[in-house]
Amino acid sequence: MLAVKAENLSYSYPDGTPALQEISFSVPEGEKMAIVGPNGSGKSTLITLLNGVRQGKGLLEILSLSLNRSNLPQIKQWVGVVFQNPDDQLFCPTIFEDIAFGPLNQGLPADEVRQRVENALQSVGLEGYQKRSSFHLSFGERKLASLATVVAMDPRIIALDEPTSNLDLSHRRKIIRWLQKNPHTIILTTHDLDMALDTCQRVMILNKGKIVADGRSQELLSDRMILEENDLELPLRMQTPHSVKKFKSMQKINNR
Ligand SMILES: Nc1ncnc2c1ncn2[C@@H]1O[C@H](COP(=O)(O)OP(=O)(O)O)[C@@H](O)[C@H]1O
Ligand SMILES: [Mg+2]
Repeated sequence: MLAVKAENLSYSYPDGTPALQEISFSVPEGEKMAIVGPNGSGKSTLITLLNGVRQGKGLLEILSLSLNRSNLPQIKQWVGVVFQNPDDQLFCPTIFEDIAFGPLNQGLPADEVRQRVENALQSVGLEGYQKRSSFHLSFGERKLASLATVVAMDPRIIALDEPTSNLDLSHRRKIIRWLQKNPHTIILTTHDLDMALDTCQRVMILNKGKIVADGRSQELLSDRMILEENDLELPLRMQTPHSVKKFKSMQKINNR
């Protein structure tokens, strides 16, 4: 079963800016895919299309249902989106209320909601945070809490926009561990190519709203040419002493 199928999918903002231009790809259920590319290439826009926050032109199917107005409530249940800025996701006085918000809206009974909140907090490593206020948490803790708000709704597909941006090492590691152990279909955007290599078997490179490469992480993320053509750098792990030396001498030549 395909989690996502897009064919000739395009999106332009109301001011006319084309953000995605006729992209086609599919993601089998259970796959983890990282979308990478320079700033402004359309990564965040694509995330917002996946659960209908924005609606593009062309075909977009989620778990074989095409995204249209009548299917939107079902698709919003299936696709959980974790935004880049946790403050877009946390707005209640306590973490409990923030995480309970989604399950309560799904009409679940109070007992199950409590259980969902507890499980979600445990899954992201924030046990016991129920009574805390998001205003008094660190950025990293808020990021994990925003992930918990999505986990609690038990979506079949989770889309994350830059999940490790601005995180310190320990919170970054927590997110990586969470991504690795999660059995769901995961689609994430990132500039953190080492994280992509650690968590996703597949990478798609977007540039100027178009797919310029799509393949296995191990292969694409070791292809320095294609990465540099798209303003990306080899993951640190791929930078062998030899490749670093070669890269630096190339830079010297370019800077002359
Ligand atoms: N709200 C908006 N209104 C108009 N243009 C936008 C808006 N948000 C993003 N864009 C433009 O759409 C393109 C894709 O942006 P985005 O999806 O945010 O890229 P990325 O996440 O890859 O940095 C860029 O040209 C950006 O300037
Ligand atoms: Mg973005």
